[in-house]
Amino acid sequence: MFIDKMRKQDILEIAAIEEISHTIPHSTVTLAEWAAENYLSYTARNSVGEIIGYLQASYIFNSCEILNIAITPHQQKQGIGSKLMQTLINACKALQIEEIFLEVAEHNLSALQLYQKFNFIKVGERKNYYLNKVTNLRENALVMRASIF
Ligand SMILES: CC(C)(COP(=O)(O)OP(=O)(O)OC[C@H]1O[C@@H](n2cnc3c(N)ncnc32)[C@H](O)[C@@H]1OP(=O)(O)O)[C@@H](O)C(=O)NCCC(=O)NCCS
Repeated sequence: MFIDKMRKQDILEIAAIEEISHTIPHSTVTLAEWAAENYLSYTARNSVGEIIGYLQASYIFNSCEILNIAITPHQQKQGIGSKLMQTLINACKALQIEEIFLEVAEHNLSALQLYQKFNFIKVGERKNYYLNKVTNLRENALVMRASIF
């Protein structure tokens, strides 16, 4: 497995993973926007070069925000999300970024496990922020933050 900077031509492959891994997938237009050069966006590829996961983040001055992360379902829980997170953290350090924010649905246990591993802590809550298209129920978002040292 290896990690690369995301490119615009990766978007169709990413959109296919987005559809199967998220209950609320982002549109192809949004995914493409977040793949631009001025974002901190990465792909994880298997040994034959297929995309198996990705992370997209934006930054301004000393602050970064994770916009999207997903691993193809049959490759989850193998450390790929952690490798993408570590890549982002290393990039943030190089840019002297001091903090990372993200939003996560409060019942997304696998994402919460990943974020807690990287020392994210809850700093806020947005009530009824997400509409889950599978259950048609609204869900709170947790706002989380990690300091970069
Ligand atoms: C969230 C997600 C990106 C995690 O990626 P991943 O590659 O499975 O994560 P890792 O394998 O690096 O696991 C990170 C830690 O979380 C734990 N973890 C991951 N999924 C878990 C689960 N379902 N149950 C319990 N623990 C879990 C791992 O055990 C690991 O901890 P450890 O290193 O101490 O053992 C992945 O589950 C995913 O793509 N989910 C769907 C999309 C999504 O919800 N994205 C987040 C939106 S905010």
